[in-house]
Amino acid sequence: MKVLSVASEVFPLVKTGGLADVAGALPAALAKQGMKVITLMPGYPAVMTALENYETVFSTDGHFGGAARLLWGKAKGLDLFVLDAPHLYDRPGNPYLGPDGKDWPDNSRRFAALATIAAEIGRGLVADFVPEIIHCHDWQAGLVPAYVRYGGGPKTIMTVHNLAFQGHYPASIFGTLGLPASAFGIDGVEYFGGVGYLKAGLQCSDAITTVSPTYAREIMTVEDGMGLDGLLRARSQAVHGIVNGIDTEIWNPADDAHIAQTYTAKHLERRDANKRAIERRFGLESGGGLLICIVSRLTLQKGMDLVAGALPTLMQLGGRLAILGSGDAALEGALKSAMVNYPGRVGIATAYDEPLSHLLQAGSDAILIPSRFEPCGLTQLYGLRYGCVPIVARVGGLADTVVDANDAALSAHAATGIQFSPVTQEALEHALRRTADLYANRRAWASLQQAGMKSDVSWTRSAARYAELYRALLKGA
Ligand code: ADP
Ligand code: GLC
Repeated sequence: MKVLSVASEVFPLVKTGGLADVAGALPAALAKQGMKVITLMPGYPAVMTALENYETVFSTDGHFGGAARLLWGKAKGLDLFVLDAPHLYDRPGNPYLGPDGKDWPDNSRRFAALATIAAEIGRGLVADFVPEIIHCHDWQAGLVPAYVRYGGGPKTIMTVHNLAFQGHYPASIFGTLGLPASAFGIDGVEYFGGVGYLKAGLQCSDAITTVSPTYAREIMTVEDGMGLDGLLRARSQAVHGIVNGIDTEIWNPADDAHIAQTYTAKHLERRDANKRAIERRFGLESGGGLLICIVSRLTLQKGMDLVAGALPTLMQLGGRLAILGSGDAALEGALKSAMVNYPGRVGIATAYDEPLSHLLQAGSDAILIPSRFEPCGLTQLYGLRYGCVPIVARVGGLADTVVDANDAALSAHAATGIQFSPVTQEALEHALRRTADLYANRRAWASLQQAGMKSDVSWTRSAARYAELYRALLKGA
């Protein structure tokens, strides 16, 4: 079966978050299910530099305001179609934001341009690869199902990685999209008087998936539906929650070039060398005590505002904290001013640093993820694989992938982490106290680490579910 995956970021080429990890790893996992997947992405500078052995399969003088070529090639092991349109994508830095930190003013055109090409590929633009399914990731690919609905093409799947990002534009851009006037309605791309890219995808796709079963339920409620819950409830038969996996080759503590000392579940004492390396990197005092890490975008979604408030409790418990994060300047400032009171016990690196994120998982005792909502979350999965016990808010994919260390789960050796709810400072502090108690009981802690490392965080089961969904859609065709 041939599948076209459409994503705006793909690891290891361009990454701002977990979407890139998923778009990068899922095609290889689907290949094991007998699928041939090619990913279509924009020709950002990092992609153009990495692209090898490519051929030009289509070119045009006028594609959303400039010349464009569709290239087919490989980059860092990925099979790609790349839309090379310098007037849209040849810009440095973040794929969505300009140097001023604001969305590029032409983002509506940049991602409509990507979506039209995806639909064209679906209609046979590239004779050697005519996909039977187009799998669209997040709002940047949201218009694809609309172009297919109004112009023809194969079955489409819309995957929601984060409902908070919707691609909502004023009605005035509708005329630039090349869709028939009838598409501007409640059954099409219209959304609260404007154009909604994610809304269009949810409305026009043949199936909707989101990245965990709990998030699939949450987004059908008014509280967490971000204005799209009504649509999602109406289409509930088409909605599937399929939990993310991780690339277990890139994330493998037994063979990870980014960490100070590799290890397996049999020799967890070897993690100590990684802990020492973290202490040096973050200027922390050396010691055997509880070391918690955070690897996160610094945003309200991730509950980062709760962390500064909970620091005194963590310090009283004898814990230390190493934070790797980037994002909101105000949250960064709040964390930095809270930490000055605890020299040697709290360290922060405000950077985006992939190798350091591996070291933190390999040497910290626990990883804290106090998200207000979390479609899936990947850092807890990396934590499980690395024996870095996740402390998580009981929401979305965090609820689905971490087994709370309650008495029953502990005695069955099934527990893999600590969950807390509701997402408040008080509940977080309670979770930190539970963590410290568990950590003091070496056997209980080792059991958490071992059970986590045994849990299946690979793509195998979930890729099989996507494959099953693709087949079901084609049968229904
Ligand atoms: P989200 O996509 O909402 O940010 P996920 O947990 O799904 O959340 O994915 C986040 C990804 O980004 C993970 O691979 C995580 O390790 C990585 N990450 C987040 N912040 C940083 C950072 N400052 N440095 C390096 N990697 C980071
Ligand atoms: C989004 C979500 C995150 C999820 C990731 C990959 O960025 O915020 O929870 O893990 O997409 O699906």
